[in-house]
Amino acid sequence: MKVNVVKDIEELSLVAAKRMIEKVRRQPTTVLGLATGSTPLGTYRKLVQDFQENRTSYKHVTTFNLDEYVGLAATDKNSYHYYMNDHLFGQININQAQTFLPNGAGVDPSEECLRYEEKIRQSGGIDLQILGLGENGHIGFNEPGTSFSSQTHVVTLAETTRVANSRYFPSLADVPTEAITMGIETIMKAREILLLVSGEKKAKALREVIEGSVSETVPATVLRNHPNITIIADEASVKCLT
Ligand code: F6R
Repeated sequence: MKVNVVKDIEELSLVAAKRMIEKVRRQPTTVLGLATGSTPLGTYRKLVQDFQENRTSYKHVTTFNLDEYVGLAATDKNSYHYYMNDHLFGQININQAQTFLPNGAGVDPSEECLRYEEKIRQSGGIDLQILGLGENGHIGFNEPGTSFSSQTHVVTLAETTRVANSRYFPSLADVPTEAITMGIETIMKAREILLLVSGEKKAKALREVIEGSVSETVPATVLRNHPNITIIADEASVKCLT
């Protein structure tokens, strides 16, 4: 596990984007695993900027997102589909047919989980997975207590997660109660992982990941068992490390 401490979210975004660009340039058919939330926004902006300036091509890239809310259609402004189209896919030359997120609306969620897991497998697996870190140590929407051997599954969101995500919704009542997420085993199969961590709010969770014991009560601690993971953490988020 490599830990790269950077000054702030700006530098974090630069370092993460640089690694992604390098990967895509070297392997044009890369399969990327992507996250939503606030942390990777700057990284996606850097990818878009690089695309405009240097024409890094995403024509043959495939992407799989970590998660999606159950009940929100792709056209819903709060869906992760919408987020990805808005912040990244709509601004680079990626083939939209090669961008995948769990379908959270209009299908049986359990069947969708099986289909999604199979789709990742058929694509040859994820080469480079981007992850954010939840304040309670979640990765994807794998909340504390999720089995390390979980595959893509339907989750009931923890109240703390709904509250944390309510900033994007008109009110807390509008935040969906369920989501579909890649499982922990699904995430751990990625050949390389970048965990992006920014801000003091994440400091306790990050201390658990780096210094705590590996346990299902803090899902992200599983990452210590991954052979090729880099944590990119800003100064505010490493405050609790000893
Ligand atoms: C998003 C995801 C979540 C977030 C996490 C951190 O696709 O899977 O695990 O990465 O909740 O969110 P932010 O970056 O908003 O602090």
